[in-house]
Amino acid sequence: MLVLGIESTCDETGVAIVENGKHILSNVIASSADVHQRYGGVFPELACRRHIDALLPALDEAFKKAGVKTSDIDVIAVAQGPGLIGALLIGMNAAKGLAIAWDKPLIGVNHVEAHLYAALMGPNEPVFPALGIVLSGGHTLLLNMLDIGKYQPIATTVDDAIGEAFDKVATLLSLPYPGGPHIERLAKEGNAEQFAFKAGFVKKSPIDFSFSGLKTSVLYAIKGQNGSKEKLSNLTPSAKADIAASFQETALRDVLTKAKKAVLELSSQSIVLGGGVCSNQRLRDLFTQEFPHIPLFWPPKELSLDNAAMIAGLGFHKFLRQEKGDPLDLEALTRIPIA
Ligand code: KG4
Ligand code: ZN
Repeated sequence: MLVLGIESTCDETGVAIVENGKHILSNVIASSADVHQRYGGVFPELACRRHIDALLPALDEAFKKAGVKTSDIDVIAVAQGPGLIGALLIGMNAAKGLAIAWDKPLIGVNHVEAHLYAALMGPNEPVFPALGIVLSGGHTLLLNMLDIGKYQPIATTVDDAIGEAFDKVATLLSLPYPGGPHIERLAKEGNAEQFAFKAGFVKKSPIDFSFSGLKTSVLYAIKGQNGSKEKLSNLTPSAKADIAASFQETALRDVLTKAKKAVLELSSQSIVLGGGVCSNQRLRDLFTQEFPHIPLFWPPKELSLDNAAMIAGLGFHKFLRQEKGDPLDLEALTRIPIA
C-alpha cells in the first residue's frame, strides 16, 4: 500500500511517499528555518507563507523521486496536529483537496506519535511494552507504549520543551536558530562540569520535566544577576563552550534519570525515542551506556527532525485500523493528546 504523507506543523514543509509503513520511496523536506533565524524562534506567519510556496513543488519532487504516478497512491496521510494552526491548515487543506481530486481516503496523524514511529521504520520489530520518549522543540514526553497507537502518558514538561530550552540557551549564547545542533557542536569543546546547573524539580510530580529554571541559571551565568550586556561580550570562547556543555549535560542527564525510573516502574522491554533532540550524539551515547541490555530504537538522523515519511508511515498503520479513513471535515488541531 502506497501512502502519501504531508507534514506542515511548524517550519518544515514535508511530502513523502512510503510503501507499507516502512519503505521510503521519497522524503522531501523544505525548511524555512533560514527566515526564522533573525527572530531566534519560529515566526508563525512567515512559516505559513513558506508552506504555501513550498508545498506544490515538494509534492512534484516527491512523485518524481519515488517514480510513481498519482493514481498509484492508496491513502493520503496528513499531520493533523499538534502545531501552529495556520501552518497545519495549509497541509490539511492540501491533503483534503488531493483526497477529493484523486478520490482517495484521507487519514489524520498525530505528529508527536509519528516522531516515535520514525524510530520503528527500521528492520527491527519493536518490543512492547516500550518506554516512549519524545524530545522535540514542542514536546518532552515519557509514555508507556503498549503498541503502535496505544499509549499511556507518564510525564510531560510543565514549562519549556527540551528543544525549546536548547534554542533559548543558544539565543542567549548568540548562536543561530535552531540552536540544538550549535549547542551540541560547542559543547564538544567545553567542560560539562564547569557550571553546576540543575534541572528543574516538579514537587507535585517529580517524574515531570521543567527546563525554565535551568534556562534562567544559564542566563545568570552569562549576564550576571543584573542582566548586563557587557558580560556576554566579555565571555571567552572557552567559557561559552563550558556553558553549552554544562547546560547540555544537565538537560540530557535529567531525561536519562527519569527514563531509568520509568523503565523500572513500567518493566519496559525496549525504549523508543523520537523528535529533533534525538539527533544529539551525546544523548545517544548516554542512553547506550546506561541501557546496554535493553533494545534502543532511535530514528535514523534524517527522520529525527520534522519530516513527512513518519506521517506516511504511521498513516499506513492508522488506515489499517480505521479502514475508511477520516471524514473530509477533519479538523487541524493545535493540541492533540497522545493516547
Ligand atoms: O522534532 P523537531 O524537528 O520539531 C518539533 O516537532 O518541535 O525538533 C526541533 C528541535 C529544535 O528545538 C532543535 O533545536 C532541536 O530539535 N535539535 C537538537 C539537535 N538537533 C535539533 N537539540 C539538541 N541537539 C541536537 N543535535
Ligand atoms: Zn516535530
